[in-house]
Formats: sequence, C-alpha cells, structure tokens
Amino acid sequence: MLEVIQAAPPDAILGLTEAFRKDSNPNKINLSVGVYQDETGTTPILESVQQAGRQVVANQQSKSYLPIDGAPAYAAAVQRLIFGHESEVVTAGRAATSHTPGGTGALRVAADFIKQNLPAATVWLSEPTWPNHPNIFAAAGVPTRSFPYFDSTTQGLAFDQACKAIGEIPEGDVILLHGCCHNPTGIDPTADQWSQLAEVVSERGLLPLLDFAYQGFAEGLQEDAAGLQKFCQPGSELLICSSFSKNFGLYRERVGALTVVVPDHEVIGPVQSQVKRCIRSNYSNPPAHGAALVTTILEDSKLTDQWHGEVASMRDRINETRKALVKTLAAKGATADYSFMTRQRGMFSFSGLTAEQVDTLREKYSIYIVRSGRINVAGITPKNIEPLCEAIAEVT
Ligand code: LMR
Repeated sequence: MLEVIQAAPPDAILGLTEAFRKDSNPNKINLSVGVYQDETGTTPILESVQQAGRQVVANQQSKSYLPIDGAPAYAAAVQRLIFGHESEVVTAGRAATSHTPGGTGALRVAADFIKQNLPAATVWLSEPTWPNHPNIFAAAGVPTRSFPYFDSTTQGLAFDQACKAIGEIPEGDVILLHGCCHNPTGIDPTADQWSQLAEVVSERGLLPLLDFAYQGFAEGLQEDAAGLQKFCQPGSELLICSSFSKNFGLYRERVGALTVVVPDHEVIGPVQSQVKRCIRSNYSNPPAHGAALVTTILEDSKLTDQWHGEVASMRDRINETRKALVKTLAAKGATADYSFMTRQRGMFSFSGLTAEQVDTLREKYSIYIVRSGRINVAGITPKNIEPLCEAIAEVT
C-alpha cells in the first residue's frame, strides 16, 4: 500500500533549512526560517530562561500528566501578558487559555474547534500570509479564502482594499489577523486602522482569530498587544493563538497558547469543554517544560524585568540590522530604494526579491531566502551582511 505514495513537496520555510543543512558551501547563509540569531550567528538561550530552567529543575516534583488544557498558573500568566493586568476580559472571566505545543499547535486546535463547532465557517487569510496557515486549516478540513492586505506599489498596507473585502465577507466566517509583525510583510495596521478593522469585523459578524507569534518584536510587549485589545470590547468574541518560540527563544520547547474570549462568563465552560475535546483527540495534553519556564519567569518580577530587557535587545538588534541592510545594499550598488525595509516590523523584511532572484541567490551564492522574498533580518550578522548585500545587488 505504501509503495505508491508520492513524495510531498518540501515545506516552503522549513524545507529551506533542510536544504541549507545539506549545502557544503562554507559561506552559506540561512535567512529563511524566523529564528533570532545574535551578532555571532547563534540562537542564544535567554539568561532569564536559563535562570528559570535551574529553578524548574530544582523544584519539579512529578512528571505526571498536566490537565488537558495545561496548568492554570500558565493560563493566568498568559492572560496577563496578552490582556494586561486590569483587563475586563480577565476580571469578567470571559477568557479561557489552553497551553498548546507552540503557536502552530494553537492554530491547529483552533482549526479543529472551528471545524467541529462552526462547521459552515470559512477562514479568511490575508494575502500574503504565513505559508503554513492554509496547510493547518486544510488539514483540519476548514476551507480558506483570502482578502487583500499588501500593496506592492507602496510597500504598505492595502487598507482600503482590505476593509472593502472584509466588509463583504459572509456573516459567521472567521478572519485571521496577525496581532503584530505581520508575517511575511512586516506591515501592521496603525492604531487607528486597528480600531476601524475591529469595527468592520464586528459589524460583519465575523469571528476574529488573532495569530500572535511575535509579541514584543515590533514596539514592546505591552504596545504590541494594543491591536488585539481593540477586539476585546465588552461582549466581544475572539480567538488568540500565542507563540513563545520567538519572544522567549523557546523554539524547540514548543510552547504556545490558545485563548478563547467569549461574550459572557456563562459561556466559557461549554466553549472550553469543546476546546479540550479537540486537544484530547489530537495530542491529549501538553508538554510541560516550556510552559514551566514561561510561568516561572512571568511569576517572578525580577525575572520578568530581565526578560523584558532581553526582548528589547533582540528587537533593537533587528532594527539596527534593518538600517545596516539598507545602507550596505546601497554601498554595494543595489539601485532600488530599499528604505521601506526600515518601516517593516518584526523579524522579517519583505524584500521585493522575485522568486527567480531568490532561486539564483540560493543556487549561485548558497543564500537561503523564502521564495516570497521574505528575509529573516534576525539572521543577518556583521559577518554575513557584506556578502549578502553584494549578492542581492548582483541578482537585482
Ligand atoms: C517562520 O515563519 O519562519 C516561523 O514562523 C517558523 C515556522 O514555523 O515557519
């Protein structure tokens, strides 16, 4: 039976890292997957995480199962992080948070939840979006469609077109928005645009699903939640998928969360019971370690302060690198105006490189970039920036 199975195409992002590992060129550069690297090209374990790790190992008492939706202390810490300390959503008991294996795990649980409880719903994705979004919803049997998001002529948000398209989405559908640091474009709505989006989404009777994988990488941990919080008016409904891969550097620990916000506390029990049902039939209950680290940090004010500083320094390095990238591209003779790169937010720069140019960079220079032209700015270092910019100038 298995002999007839055809090979699947490589993953649009992780497939490139597989190819990078096999590349024997000593000067190869991997700017594909969104993983932070410091100036030396290593992905550090944050100091706050190392300290928390020592505490977790010293204090743990059991390896028995966690509850299906994870530990209550983790859920409470995550809610404080995304909604703030005094949010009505929290005080009114309108939110339930499940600990999931990474942000992808949260999205898959959300997709299963939509399939089982809102079977007529289509999920609307921005064009472009993270290439794994359509895969996740397809795997759960949920149909997807897209709405315009990016204007390649201005390198900015196609806001009017987006609002017009959203205004025509059928009532009862789900709209997926990126909470901050839109992946792949790095273009986010302004505060005023977020308010307008929240209004049109609510007027149309759509369920917003916020993918929140980069909290802290745009302006700050608190600031980056401002868009999402516009969807939290009293009586609102909302799904939030958090990832702590990037902001805690916990990529391989697979730690994330699905938070469901319901209009009234009365509804939270039945809704969360359905979320738990999805989890139980998928991976049963979550892996403990990553969430124990996050909880330890967020429950300790000294570790929290330290972590805030570490997130700020990752953010600052990326922003400095954006400036250096624009400057070095010009110095190496790239003729296009790349100043838009300094206005993009988060780990990525949507460079405008075509798929053919990206292929040439890989084949000729062993530089790995996602075919949409998305560059992981956090992978650029003082050592690789010159050869990178020379190659880009060459292919453009
Ligand atoms: C990315 O977009 O590179 C990250 O979200 C990592 C991934 O899983 O694709």
